[in-house]
Amino acid sequence: MSLGTEEQRLVEIAHRVLPAGNIGNLDSDMIIVEGRGGRVRDINGKEYVDFLLGSGPMMIGHGNPEITAAVADQIGRGTTFFANNPWAIELADEIVKAVPCADKVRFANSGTEVDFLAMRAARAFTGRTKILKFEGGYHGMSDYTLISLWSTSVGNTAQGQPDSAGIPQSVQDEILVAPYNDLAAAEQIIREHKDELAGVIVEPMQRLYMPLPGFLEGLRAITAELGIVLIFDEVVTGFRMAYGGAQEFFGVIPDLCTLGKIVGGGFPLAVIAGKAGIMAHFDKKKVGPKGYLPYVGTLNANPIASIAGLTSLKILQRPGTYEKLNATGNTIRAALDENMKAAGVPAVTSGFPGMFDIYFTNLKQVRNFRESRDVNAAVTAKFSSLLQERGILRAGKFYISLAHDERDVEQTVTAIRDAAPILAEQLQAA
Ligand SMILES: Cc1ncc(COP(=O)(O)O)c(C=O)c1O
Repeated sequence: MSLGTEEQRLVEIAHRVLPAGNIGNLDSDMIIVEGRGGRVRDINGKEYVDFLLGSGPMMIGHGNPEITAAVADQIGRGTTFFANNPWAIELADEIVKAVPCADKVRFANSGTEVDFLAMRAARAFTGRTKILKFEGGYHGMSDYTLISLWSTSVGNTAQGQPDSAGIPQSVQDEILVAPYNDLAAAEQIIREHKDELAGVIVEPMQRLYMPLPGFLEGLRAITAELGIVLIFDEVVTGFRMAYGGAQEFFGVIPDLCTLGKIVGGGFPLAVIAGKAGIMAHFDKKKVGPKGYLPYVGTLNANPIASIAGLTSLKILQRPGTYEKLNATGNTIRAALDENMKAAGVPAVTSGFPGMFDIYFTNLKQVRNFRESRDVNAAVTAKFSSLLQERGILRAGKFYISLAHDERDVEQTVTAIRDAAPILAEQLQAA
């Protein structure tokens, strides 16, 4: 049986047994069978420089020998216990040392869970019910966070729009929305609803839009003044923007943060961490039955995921880690900027060296979801497929890995150089 036939067989099964023929993450029939370092290989043997990185967790690279050895060492001695395990305790200790807002830590399995939990913790702490999120802000897949995520029409009120079927009106009524990077608009909504607002949840760098100077500082000041819990969703930025996350990078400390992706070293693990007074609500003895937040989960703080996370953090602490990541990212970002400019393709790159993308637009900067609607979707799709044909895998952003080497960077820069004039032609023909 040739490899092509095996792909056909699996795609056929996938379309029979999976809704839309896929697992729901990518709108694609591509089947990945292997990852090594900064590359992945599909079922037909085609190799890609991997900027998808499993949607971010694999910043250290696929199949890292230290993580693999640490995980393999434990696997034969049991993979889950439900009880405390040494690696989860040590991982929690390391998170408390690394992350500025973290006095205490609770584990779960996904970013969706911990964001959901963070909003509930804000409610338990304040006794209020509403949460403010930002348009286009991604906080997983709970009912609360599927509001004003992908809505193409944005309103001028704080009332969000559901972006999924099945979300009750009662949940919609609890979520207020504001445009990211518009401090005045956010402040107005926060002050207007201060008596019912439990928390503000924000990606400190929302998607790839850098916060404008003063935006995060302003949110911090208003929420501190009004006793509203400020939650940084650091599922993406945690241990990526800096070892201590975006809160270390920007020097703005929230009350709670959520972590995922890198902290699990490629295994399912996520964290809510925060100030002792709020995290006390997970301890019935401290807050009594009325204020208590029970949180039990069969695979919470799974030993294998904890070992992988702990080993990842040890690797990241080595000198030169973030410098290497930044150097790789800067080279690729510069190639995007220079080649699109040379070809006359209007575009702007956005993000930071460890994670960025290119927006095909005439805008000089894309500051939030509203402005992102100006991006040319047809050119973006063409760019992705031109790169994919040239063995570069990227979905919505370039996630940079420590394992990306000179050969990976060279192949990527060449692919960008090839793609730029083709995009210019497409724009002229349009
Ligand atoms: C900022 C942010 N928060 C939360 C999540 C949800 O995490 P998970 O996919 O682990 O549920 C994601 C996932 O990409 C994310 O980017």
